[in-house]
Amino acid sequence: MHDSTENILVTGGAGYIGSHVVRDLGEQGYKPIVYDNLSTGNKDFVLYGDFIKGDLKDTNLITKIIKKYKIKSVIHFAAYIVVEESVNKPIKYYNNNFFNSLNLIKSCIENGVENFVFSSSAAVYGISEEFPVKENSQLNPVNPYGRSKMFTEILLEDISYIYKNFNYIALRYFNVAGADKKLRIGQKYENPTHLITLALKTALGEYESLNIFGTDYNTPDGTAIRDYIHIDDLSNAHILCLNYLKKERKSKVFNCGYGQGYSVLEVLNTTKKVTKVNFKTVNSKKREGDPPILIADSNLIKDKLGWSPKYNDLEFIINSAWEWEKKLKKGE
Ligand SMILES: NC(=O)c1ccc[n+]([C@@H]2O[C@H](COP(=O)([O-])OP(=O)(O)OC[C@H]3O[C@@H](n4cnc5c(N)ncnc54)[C@H](O)[C@@H]3O)[C@@H](O)[C@H]2O)c1
Repeated sequence: MHDSTENILVTGGAGYIGSHVVRDLGEQGYKPIVYDNLSTGNKDFVLYGDFIKGDLKDTNLITKIIKKYKIKSVIHFAAYIVVEESVNKPIKYYNNNFFNSLNLIKSCIENGVENFVFSSSAAVYGISEEFPVKENSQLNPVNPYGRSKMFTEILLEDISYIYKNFNYIALRYFNVAGADKKLRIGQKYENPTHLITLALKTALGEYESLNIFGTDYNTPDGTAIRDYIHIDDLSNAHILCLNYLKKERKSKVFNCGYGQGYSVLEVLNTTKKVTKVNFKTVNSKKREGDPPILIADSNLIKDKLGWSPKYNDLEFIINSAWEWEKKLKKGE
């Protein structure tokens, strides 16, 4: 346990992933200070700490909060996350994901923040020839969302090089799914784009059918292969990152996935098994920029942080998300 007076600033802490990390921070004795404009977040997802409604672009307010709460550590989730939208609205994405991150980081270094955990993404790899991808594999993001994450990583590298008291970890998440065991928090996007969520909502009758984008990839069943990670294992990785930064004071980049790939068809078959609904699927064309296979090599985070995932089981992940979706549908 930690000194409960240790405040951790969590931007985007009312969102899907942020709210799980806020839960874990609270359970570990930290005090999360959640800063979120609620553009896609939910205030009632913030289970611990203080909540401040604010926008990242408000640098004066951010600076005030960092000073007021004597913040030494920041976990930065706030961003826009819809890949297709980023292609159509690049300015919106560069503004929020890159420019607002730059201002936040500037305020951090000017006000004595020492530790910074950044939500990066497997999208920084783009179409990779390698699988599993390693942290030092070539970065080749193919859309503004992935590029905004890559540029922020580069920015963090340059800043931590010259500001020696400022260290960061960029965590590259793969496909995140599932919900809190007690079903207090989970995914609640207005326009979901994640496969498991869409499949479950289709099983619940919220959509008529589910599109399978690409059935002629060079993979065993022709559909794209991804690495799915349960939210609780990802959340735990953030706590380990924070503790590592505080102790070791070294910057790092880590993949965070299970190193195991499932094809779209495998995910859908498992979803049908879990939900017992044989929902309709429609074969559609590949989406531009969708790599055939994206699987994480996560040996580095295991070696350096002792990260030891507990829920590497597709059926468990889908079931966890299913329980949440049913609860959302009932409007509980
Ligand atoms: N969900 C995934 O599978 C996934 C995969 C890779 C990376 N990520 C990254 O993880 C982070 C969190 O994603 P999520 O899935 O929880 O999304 P989310 O939309 O649920 O969470 C983002 C949160 O940030 C807030 N926010 C956005 N812009 C803001 C601003 N300008 N000022 C203040 N608050 C703002 C939103 O209100 C929301 O609460 C993002 O940075 C995303 O890029 C997510």
